[in-house]
Amino acid sequence: MRPTGLPAAAVRDEIAAALAEDVPWPRVLNSICTAPHPVAVEAAHAAAHTNLGDVRIFRGTKRIERAAVALLLGLLGRPQGAGSLVSGGTEANLLAVLAARRDAATAGRLTEHPEVVVGSTVHFSFDKIFAALGITPVRVPVDDGLRLAPVSVEKALTADTIAVVATAGSSELGVVDKVDEIAAVVEPHGVWLHVDAATGGFVIPFARDIGLPLPRFDLGVDGVRSVTIDPHKYGLATVPAGAVLFRDEEVHQADSFFHGTPAHTTFLGTRPGSAAAATYAVLRHLGREGFVEITRANYENTRYLVDRLAAAGYGLIVQPELNIVVARVPNAAEVSRLLGTRDWIVSTSTRFDDAVRVVVTRHVTRDVIDAFLPALVAADHDVRAEVAAR
Ligand SMILES: Cc1ncc(COP(=O)(O)O)c(C=O)c1O
Repeated sequence: MRPTGLPAAAVRDEIAAALAEDVPWPRVLNSICTAPHPVAVEAAHAAAHTNLGDVRIFRGTKRIERAAVALLLGLLGRPQGAGSLVSGGTEANLLAVLAARRDAATAGRLTEHPEVVVGSTVHFSFDKIFAALGITPVRVPVDDGLRLAPVSVEKALTADTIAVVATAGSSELGVVDKVDEIAAVVEPHGVWLHVDAATGGFVIPFARDIGLPLPRFDLGVDGVRSVTIDPHKYGLATVPAGAVLFRDEEVHQADSFFHGTPAHTTFLGTRPGSAAAATYAVLRHLGREGFVEITRANYENTRYLVDRLAAAGYGLIVQPELNIVVARVPNAAEVSRLLGTRDWIVSTSTRFDDAVRVVVTRHVTRDVIDAFLPALVAADHDVRAEVAAR
């Protein structure tokens, strides 16, 4: 640190210069996050000083968190449930697994080697969680549609199983597990079913409203005990805003998660009330209709991208269920790297070598797609020429 401070204007310039190095949103095609809604930015700014780790002080902010959670519970079919706003999908998934472990202990079913059944498309946040908690993941293969198959789940259940995780919108492929069918096989065993809807939670309810044939995945499905949903993704809130929601109020007691921390139902201690304010502001401002319109536009742009890809000769790895397009492009890793040097950010797949993945979120408009397609074709062409010359 310098002995003397810099004028605020100089610091502002330094920060502006750093932010100018970030890739601008219209070139970001790999992220489920987008520019937060202006009402979220305003609310976050107003609440920048707040800390939900101390609710004796920030009573009004806590009220906002409760109200945001109530809105999310209504969206996900269980107004009488409970939950917390957290830092994102990873923390939400962690808390759900902790609640499942506690539930197994309470029911006298917790063994020395607890297992959680997951599909091979489960998000990598679970790898961190299982490593941290000493839980063994039991990975079951997905079916031809890249979904967790209920019959494989049932076969994988053992006396050590404390939970099953289904995914409502895998981040890599945008595939939605048939949560209702999985719940039907899991529930009779008394095992906790967690649904990771970090990616799909702010899409599927609205996509169903516009008539798309996606399954129910929420707390209204019998047997679903907890759901992760992320306001900082398609919920247009500022980062870091995640949420974990539970079917039963009594699960959501502080010592369900961590013994001896009566005031906290989250992993983080000090945590931003700004994220709660942003989440609440967007939910109140857009209402269901606002989200439906955004979702409709995202799906229309998804269709537009698929058509443009087809016209350029690119097929798909999987038909998009969400607004995530996974195109079949040879040498995908190299194409992605080359696009990156040209300031186009796409991602690839851990499962398929020839997949370029594009998330068609709010900033990925037709204009962006029209600019991206020639860039993709050029990168593909250059990589093919380089490969042929080797
Ligand atoms: C399905 C899913 N689960 C969990 C996560 C982790 O969320 P976060 O990065 O907010 O911790 C993501 C992030 O993309 C995700 O898509």
